[in-house]
Amino acid sequence: MNNSLSDRARSILNENDLGDYTVPTKGLYPYQWNWDSAFSAIGLASFNSERGWTEIETLLDAQWECGFVPHIIFRVDDPSYFPGPQVWQGRAHIPSSGISNPPVVASIVRTMIGNEFECADDRLQAIFHSLLRWHRWFKQCRDFEGNGVVVSVHPWEGGRDNSPEWDIPASSVDTSNVGDYQRRDTSHVDAAMRPKQQDYDRYIALLQYGRSTGWDHNLIGEAGPFRVVDVGMTMILIKANRDLLWLAKRLKKTVAIQEISSWIDTSEQGIDYLWDEKVNAFCSRDTMTGESSGIITNASFLSFYAEVGSSVQKQSMLSHLERISKQCSFLVPSLDPEHPEFDAMRYWRGPVWLVLNYMISQGLFNCGYRDWAEKVRQDSGDLVQQSGFYESFSPTTGDGTGGELFSWTAAMWLAWCGHDRETMS
Ligand code: DGY
Repeated sequence: MNNSLSDRARSILNENDLGDYTVPTKGLYPYQWNWDSAFSAIGLASFNSERGWTEIETLLDAQWECGFVPHIIFRVDDPSYFPGPQVWQGRAHIPSSGISNPPVVASIVRTMIGNEFECADDRLQAIFHSLLRWHRWFKQCRDFEGNGVVVSVHPWEGGRDNSPEWDIPASSVDTSNVGDYQRRDTSHVDAAMRPKQQDYDRYIALLQYGRSTGWDHNLIGEAGPFRVVDVGMTMILIKANRDLLWLAKRLKKTVAIQEISSWIDTSEQGIDYLWDEKVNAFCSRDTMTGESSGIITNASFLSFYAEVGSSVQKQSMLSHLERISKQCSFLVPSLDPEHPEFDAMRYWRGPVWLVLNYMISQGLFNCGYRDWAEKVRQDSGDLVQQSGFYESFSPTTGDGTGGELFSWTAAMWLAWCGHDRETMS
């Protein structure tokens, strides 16, 4: 039975492979998505190393001159998705969106090298060069205070679209001129699992604002209507900078080594900006009001992944994990079950995402909390065994939520939480 799960995982990735790139799932997400694609690369590489590397290369191919790498790349036009290329009007050689995504690629590249998925030196040099330019873009266009934490300018940029962390900051976004549009997501997935209409109007209003600036990233990051330091994107960037530094050392890039090291030092010193003393946890903070969200999500636990926080802060985060584990059957829910907005089936308000679990588990392991790391990995494998390759899962019942036949869930099974179960069968 477990063997056939791995076969299914491979066939999902092959089915979602549209040439040199994969889509997250057909219908709901029919284009190349930035962080989805990066996670898919390690799944693909587990059975076809060359294909894993091309996935990374096609993603970085969409890089703009300023170093920015978009969150959606539109290589075809597919009416099953809204908002498509004509709505976004990204300004580069390949049609794209105008916001970015959590920069997981450098970390995925390091893992692929560690797993001995071979990559010729000239290819690796080109990948490194693109990644350095992208991380520089984050420094210039998302870290305005210069303290090593980064703002997200759209709930979709941080990839956790519908988290309640954005409810208050996005409530001041003017939606009065959004106009008529037709959502497509609810024709693929039960509306009870998707963001509500009010949230969608805000997403579209923010897109329209960004487009009206001609995707001027400095302006949007400095003066746009939504600027929240996203705890998830910040922690992921810190880890990605550590992995980029590892790559720079491997490739003997002396100047880059200094530059990246200074980014990491700044982030380590600045990370307390996200520490919320009332709830004793790392939380997102709205730069426009200075207010912390005070909300504990799965992204809060990425502090282990970034390897930041004092030993007292780490202990406090572990206590939260332990408390939450008593309230769920499966770790790690995307929202604290004690939060009034907790909803086990609705997008980023409760369900478990395997890619978040992968990063959290890796962080717990690297910080020496091996039992917790293994618990998160086991729960992830159990979810797939119980329900299949859904986009996400209820932390209460384990039922699948969101899209089906999802690339990154298949990739996580193959590269992380399923491989040892397969050999056991
Ligand atoms: C969507 O359309 O729901 C996406 O998550 C945007 O990235």
